[in-house]
Amino acid sequence: MKNGLFITLEGPDGSGKTTQSAYLREYFDIRGIETVFTREPGGTAIGEKLRTIILDRANSEMCDMTEALLYAASRSQLVHQMIRPALKEGKVVICDRFIDSSIAYQGYGRQLGDPVRVINELAIEGCMPDMTIFMELAPEIGRSRIDPAALDRLEQEKLEFHNRVFRGYKELAELYKDRFVCIDASRDKEAVSRDICRALDQLLEDRGFSCR
Ligand code: TMP
Repeated sequence: MKNGLFITLEGPDGSGKTTQSAYLREYFDIRGIETVFTREPGGTAIGEKLRTIILDRANSEMCDMTEALLYAASRSQLVHQMIRPALKEGKVVICDRFIDSSIAYQGYGRQLGDPVRVINELAIEGCMPDMTIFMELAPEIGRSRIDPAALDRLEQEKLEFHNRVFRGYKELAELYKDRFVCIDASRDKEAVSRDICRALDQLLEDRGFSCR
């Protein structure tokens, strides 16, 4: 059984997750809480190889179900090899993207629907996040923050795709109000970080986490 804390970061491409990850590192360091940072797709040697295949723009022939299964495969390995063991040791795990990304991008964006949830429930074996920080930002603004030459296979998709993804996220946030924390990511990074820290203070207090 898990006794650590599992926190995920979600949101459109360019919404500032990577920047906020750095702030989170500082937040937990100051409090003397042992934290494991990881990302999806990837986070393990196998997962990073899958990431290269999934995001490679040269793989334009990849069909949507292959894509969904590869994300789920990377996730299964990460849960097995890293997330579950760290939670068992009482650590805080911060994951840049998790199951909600697949439901939003493959379920809504690729329009594969509910089978995406089903394959991912197999992949995570009940290991759901305690808190999901949703960086809420209009997809066109997120995209404008990314260098066009550096767009990966998913990021280069049309705006309609990214708008469907965003709609998916909004529905997930509504459905899972208990674990979703919606953050207005259109503001400056310090203001965004302050809101995230407030939500974390509350979570640590609720779960009786002792801080230094
Ligand atoms: P990243 O740029 O946040 O590292 O994520 C890589 C891309 O993969 C990003 O465009 C979102 C996409 N993605 C999915 O489509 N489904 C998933 O399950 C995950 C984890 C990411």
